[in-house]
Amino acid sequence: MKHFFLFTAILAFISIVSATGKTPCAKALECDTPSDNTLTVYGTAQKWETTDDKVFYLAPGFSKCQVNYTDQSNVVCVSPQYFLNDSLRDCNEWVQVYNPDTGIVSFGRILDECGAVPNSTFGCNDIYLSKKMFTELAGKNAAEALNSGHLTQVQWRKVVAPCWSAWAGLPGKFPNGTQDDAHGYDSNGFLRCGRRSGQNRVVGADVAQVCNKNIKSCDEANAIASKLPKYHGGSCDHQSKAVAYVAQTNQLT
Ligand SMILES: *[C@@H]1O[C@H](CO)[C@@H](O)[C@H](O)[C@H]1NC(C)=O
Ligand SMILES: *[C@@H]1O[C@H](CO)[C@@H](O)[C@H](O)[C@H]1NC(C)=O
Ligand SMILES: *[C@@H]1O[C@H](CO)[C@@H](O)[C@H](O)[C@H]1NC(C)=O
Ligand SMILES: *[C@@H]1O[C@H](CO)[C@@H](O)[C@H](O)[C@H]1NC(C)=O
Repeated sequence: MKHFFLFTAILAFISIVSATGKTPCAKALECDTPSDNTLTVYGTAQKWETTDDKVFYLAPGFSKCQVNYTDQSNVVCVSPQYFLNDSLRDCNEWVQVYNPDTGIVSFGRILDECGAVPNSTFGCNDIYLSKKMFTELAGKNAAEALNSGHLTQVQWRKVVAPCWSAWAGLPGKFPNGTQDDAHGYDSNGFLRCGRRSGQNRVVGADVAQVCNKNIKSCDEANAIASKLPKYHGGSCDHQSKAVAYVAQTNQLT
């Protein structure tokens, strides 16, 4: 778990805990329930959650999922109750996050657990974010959000690893924790054609050429990819703004 939030964040967190007095961690509830799987118009995803704790950003470091992440990684931190039944099952599951204040959508992997403190109000519906996702979702309000240390409220759900993440070669599991070879449609309706590696990765704005609603077969996607510049380094975590992932929850279910 993460201990080292910003000092102001810690103070705010303590005051929230004492102000609300909720004790959702008193009982060890398992956050994952099999019935959470729902169908979107395109494929499988889990139900939307709405945070009720403030959404703080994380100091990077060594995570519950045994990886070191940085301020540039796309990381979602969830309740320890997601890790109760099987300690690492939820690691590398993908989450879609929507900030209603800015209309911005961002994706990240579950790589850490948060809120494992006595009498925490951090529930199954709450998340904290890496600095990269946090600033991305804050959009034009980033300076203000970084200053306060938190976003007000976000909506999020576990999704099938997005098309762009497969082309970037990032790991991923299905929302039910099983292995995902990154074929078939993502939860937003973009056809995925396997997880790339090495120079075959496609990142940045180029991703929009292989992740769009006109792509109906992987032969088509691979032909387009073969004409794109080879990958020569740079962040694989950077999601392309050019890929039009839907933002509003009511468009999705
Ligand atoms: C994580 O970083 C620490 C400190 O730099 C290092 O000792 C450790 O080996 C790293 N662990 C992994 C799994 O990369
Ligand atoms: C907990 O894990 C066991 C074995 O892996 C599985 O059979 C059971 O369905 C899991 N329970 C939940 C609530 O996911
Ligand atoms: C947690 O809540 C219990 C019951 O309300 C209380 O007795 C205890 O002092 C609280 N612990 C902390 C660390 O606030
Ligand atoms: C997990 O989810 C995937 C994708 O929706 C599905 O194909 C698979 O059958 C599921 N596995 C289990 C054990 O529920």
